[in-house]
Amino acid sequence: MPTVKRLRLVAVAIGLILLLGTVGWMWQDSLVHGEHSVTDMGRPDLGGGRPTTDHDNEHDHEHGLSIAELQDSETGAADVEVLLVARSERIRLDSGRDMQALTLNGETPGPVIRAEVGQMIEVELRNASVTDGTTIHWHGVEVPNAMDGVAGVTQDAVAVGESFIYRFRPQRAGTYWYHSHQHSHEQVPLGLVGALVVEPPGGLDPAVKDVVALVHSYGGTRTINGRTGEVPIDAAPGDRVRVRVINTANGPMSAWVSGVPFRLLAIDASELNAPSLVSDRQVQVAAGGRADVDLVVPDSGARIDLGGPSLVLGSAPPAEPRPELYLDPLSYGEPAPIDFDTARPDRRFEYTIGRRPGFVRGMPGMWWTINGRHYPKTPMFMVSEGEVVHVAFASRNDVHPMHLHGHRMLVLARNGVRATGSPWWVDSLNLAPGEDYEVAFRADNPGAWMFHCHHLGHAADGLVAHLMYEGLTVPYLIGDGNEPE
Ligand code: C2O
Ligand code: CU
Repeated sequence: MPTVKRLRLVAVAIGLILLLGTVGWMWQDSLVHGEHSVTDMGRPDLGGGRPTTDHDNEHDHEHGLSIAELQDSETGAADVEVLLVARSERIRLDSGRDMQALTLNGETPGPVIRAEVGQMIEVELRNASVTDGTTIHWHGVEVPNAMDGVAGVTQDAVAVGESFIYRFRPQRAGTYWYHSHQHSHEQVPLGLVGALVVEPPGGLDPAVKDVVALVHSYGGTRTINGRTGEVPIDAAPGDRVRVRVINTANGPMSAWVSGVPFRLLAIDASELNAPSLVSDRQVQVAAGGRADVDLVVPDSGARIDLGGPSLVLGSAPPAEPRPELYLDPLSYGEPAPIDFDTARPDRRFEYTIGRRPGFVRGMPGMWWTINGRHYPKTPMFMVSEGEVVHVAFASRNDVHPMHLHGHRMLVLARNGVRATGSPWWVDSLNLAPGEDYEVAFRADNPGAWMFHCHHLGHAADGLVAHLMYEGLTVPYLIGDGNEPE
């Protein structure tokens, strides 16, 4: 063989070895080794704040307070006691469709739990037959961290035959929901969900009818409280009704009212200030989000369309087409003071979602990135108690409903336009492609908190980061039976 040809062959061989080596290294690097602690995941992002622990030292998870201690220490009788028995079983929808599902006390959605602000809620979750194990996460509630219900982060999954007791006192009235946070991208669609309503101290206004409308899709069949089609509500002309819309899906949902003007009273369990009457607007409810709608039933009846099924209040008016315009919370209602200084944050984080080829959990593919990195190298946003935190979200591709556990975030601006309406607090923020949002929150609930996309399929594909308070340790492990996504 002539020398030139031989040299070329050697060069190609070396190139191939280098390429394979790099790809192999990327693959190996993407593996989440068996069991691991959430504190070893990701890269600490200090957001310009000061470090209080030694991050180069394997994130120091030997020392510090265990998050298992972060719960109410009192043991007295609770004000509201609920037993939830989780089962895997077949259900039949009212459409006649028969399917495998996950139920709580034999039903899906599970029972509506109601409590007043400050009351102690005690929920015993018993797993009768969910073979992967299960948990309950209290979506939107600022629970103590040990009660957050995330398998592998705040507790171990509850195996068949076992139980777990959740105890917490909700601090804010509003509409919440609960769902499994073990294999959540499978267990939530299968129906392990329910509504939680926190009433103001002293209970609800008896003059207002209170209606929960939990919207959930069972294998593509959209339901309201488990019912398909037109769902009648027992209401008469002149009745004032508060409808609590809950979107358990992976994507945003549109809600619109026909027959009468309405007010949007609350978003994600936070009351809006001075909401005006509106008509001819659709309300977008983010995946995981809630919207509370107030209306007075007219003589001719009212209807709330919820993306397929509808709620009918009084006699059924004809369905109107979906309004073209959206009610924009950025400018809806009136401003009100905020009890922290959003202009002087202690930490500034960026949460930019992109996508690029690589390996996640050893699988090649086009995977989501957060700030340019694939899971598990996604950020660990570090904070200290009492700090004001600023987050800039941006999506370069898809719709991503961003959900922060244990806190509520105040929307400051969208695409550079400042919020001018009522304070707009969210725990689930719909981030559309090409959009960016600025939010701020107060770090007032110590713990290890998931901060992820609530398109649960995206989360399972690695769209997960964490908010971590300094000086805490996590005694649970992801892997070996704990799979939060
Ligand atoms: Cu509604 Cu991390 O969840
Ligand atoms: Cu997403």
